[in-house]
Amino acid sequence: MAAIRNIVILTGAGVSAESGIDTFRDSGGVWEQHRVEDVATPEAFARDRDLVLRFYDMRREAIQTRQPNAAHLALAKLQAQWPGRVTLVTQNVDDLHDRAAAALGVTAADLIHMHGEHLNAWCTACDVRSPWAGPLLDRPACPSCGEAALRPDIVWFGEMPYRMEEIFAALREADLFVSIGTSGAVYPAAGFVRNARDLGAATLELNLEPSQGSLWFDEARHGPATVVVPAWVEEMLAR
Ligand code: OAD
Repeated sequence: MAAIRNIVILTGAGVSAESGIDTFRDSGGVWEQHRVEDVATPEAFARDRDLVLRFYDMRREAIQTRQPNAAHLALAKLQAQWPGRVTLVTQNVDDLHDRAAAALGVTAADLIHMHGEHLNAWCTACDVRSPWAGPLLDRPACPSCGEAALRPDIVWFGEMPYRMEEIFAALREADLFVSIGTSGAVYPAAGFVRNARDLGAATLELNLEPSQGSLWFDEARHGPATVVVPAWVEEMLAR
């Protein structure tokens, strides 16, 4: 590989799988247990608010019992020690990257939650996002405006992912794009590998198995994230 300074890393559910958080599309995954149209669209929220809130309350509670694994910790270490910039873009709405970063004293500035965060609530009345660890089913008041109008701060199907301009700015500067634990089924994230290639970056996939976008990567390494990610990070830090 040519000289690498700036790295953009995209993560998906596979990076949190070994922490005990279900992926979406693997056998037994979230979308086998629930229909996307019932719980993950604005239309579902309008139609059956209780069902949607109950689904996210359950998942918000569950993630708080999980711990960052060796892959989250290795990525935080890379962010802490790499001499260039490492932008970590995650599709995950858990806070395991955040907790791994905090454990190593990394600032969270270069961590982008493009699909939102379980531990935020978004007020549809005043548009303010507030840290939120408890349930939303009982229609609590927004800490900012007092209205009972909070929704999960999750990007649903049909909604625009967050911070896309920052992501594209990082891709433009990237020498290396790495995709970890994502099936490559959901756009725009699934298209980042082609954007990165077009912009001149080298591309690497770390995943349990070849993803839907595997052919777009210069190199792929397959195996569990807790094995392949720390090995890759150590290799990078030894360069
Ligand atoms: P998926 O469930 O679609 O894909 C998970 C990927 O992780 C698959 O390619 C698995 O092979 C891989 N995988 C599973 N276990 C792994 C492990 N231990 N180590 C490494 N890889 C492993 O999840 P995402 O690609 O993250 O969006 O899904 C993208 C988006 O679709 C999510 O952000 C979510 C979902 O609908 C929203 O809810 C908005």
